[in-house]
Amino acid sequence: MKALVWHGRNDIRCDSVADPKIEDTRDVIVKVTACAICGSDLHLFDGQMPTMEKGDVLGHEFMGEVVEVGSPNHKLKKGQRVVVPFNINCGECRMCKLGNWSCCLKSNRNGAMAAKMFGYPTAGLFGYAHITGGYWGGQAEYVRVPMADVAPMVVPDGLDDEHVLFLTDILPTGWQGAEHCEIKGGETVAIWGAGPVGLFAIKSAQIMGAEKIIVIETVPERIALAKQAGATHVIDLKHEEVLDRIKEITNGEGPDAVIDCVGMEATAGHGVFGVVSAIQEAVTANQRPYALEQAIQAVRSCGIVSIPGVYAGPIPINMGAVVQKGLTFKTGQTHVKRYLEPLAKLIQDGKIDPTFLITHRSTTLEDGPELYKTFRDKKDGCVKVVFNLS
Ligand SMILES: NC(=O)c1ccc[n+]([C@@H]2O[C@H](COP(=O)([O-])OP(=O)(O)OC[C@H]3O[C@@H](n4cnc5c(N)ncnc54)[C@H](O)[C@@H]3O)[C@@H](O)[C@H]2O)c1
Ligand SMILES: [Zn+2]
Ligand SMILES: [Zn+2]
Repeated sequence: MKALVWHGRNDIRCDSVADPKIEDTRDVIVKVTACAICGSDLHLFDGQMPTMEKGDVLGHEFMGEVVEVGSPNHKLKKGQRVVVPFNINCGECRMCKLGNWSCCLKSNRNGAMAAKMFGYPTAGLFGYAHITGGYWGGQAEYVRVPMADVAPMVVPDGLDDEHVLFLTDILPTGWQGAEHCEIKGGETVAIWGAGPVGLFAIKSAQIMGAEKIIVIETVPERIALAKQAGATHVIDLKHEEVLDRIKEITNGEGPDAVIDCVGMEATAGHGVFGVVSAIQEAVTANQRPYALEQAIQAVRSCGIVSIPGVYAGPIPINMGAVVQKGLTFKTGQTHVKRYLEPLAKLIQDGKIDPTFLITHRSTTLEDGPELYKTFRDKKDGCVKVVFNLS
């Protein structure tokens, strides 16, 4: 089959690789009908995420048709259309039982590696480095889905691929990022980054009742979409003093909650510091927590810092501000399964149209290597790339 394969930093190719096979009775094989490139894939492309190996098949946002099942009485049946969350879930461990799906204790076959780095194992993920299990991903014609009786959701009738594809990751991720802010109505939330995750965080915060939604971004097409999604104020990080502007907008009080939808590949923005960091960005693969740093500074005392943005290891942050202001951190890889049904309902009811951010479509994985670059460099107005393979 054809698949997008990691060969090293900045080197992704469309290769012919072996078709996946059933390895366990709980497996199914999914023929991919749609898949997407995520901001998290850029951390692999850019060589930020440790434990990638040459030959790994990428992709954790995918859906398709079940074409093989591991046992005749499998919960899933051949011919069903499924969306497959990016985390793999055993359904039996304590974390799964608590609904902490992204921290499943059993689905990561390299759990010991994760435990060494983080203290305990975290869930197996598709197409995402060996520390999360080294499972082949869904930027491919076919995928083996382990433990497929737990996480995947059969697509409700009447919804096409593009309306449900983002249930696999970015829509629940934006939603969880906003949910972490404990919005009850009337709050001010500031959101760093209006990429796909940020855009869904904006939409979610709006639905939850936030009154002011301040967005920090610099790319014009993304700013336009942020306004469309519900941003009430936009700050251009390349041309404005972010912290000053946030104080102005909040009458000096600061937002009740902040969301880092950027993660470890942030740009430093304004002034001399911005110029220096632009040079750093070009020459090193080091993590750059500028957005998180600013968010911690900007949030009001006793506020919430929600962090869907991904970090791969230790980074310097102002722990003094965290403690002195009494901040609450809420973070994590998204517990996707928690949100599948409620968000599918919002889509069915027309409350969210997740397709609004798709800018680039292709019908062949052959375009993948070029589209990775287009997405990373935000060329040609690129916000989200979708492959429709059926
Ligand atoms: N927690 C999860 O489960 C989960 C799931 C999906 C994605 N993510 C993470 O969310 C983050 C965003 O993903 P995405 O797909 O939207 O990626 P993206 O790279 O398309 O978007 C990031 C956006 O941040 C902007 N940006 C860069 N530096 C900034 C700064 N200093 N201040 C404000 N904005 C800045 C960029 O212009 C870009 O639009 C990534 O780190 C990704 O790994 C996490
Ligand atoms: Zn993703
Ligand atoms: Zn589990």
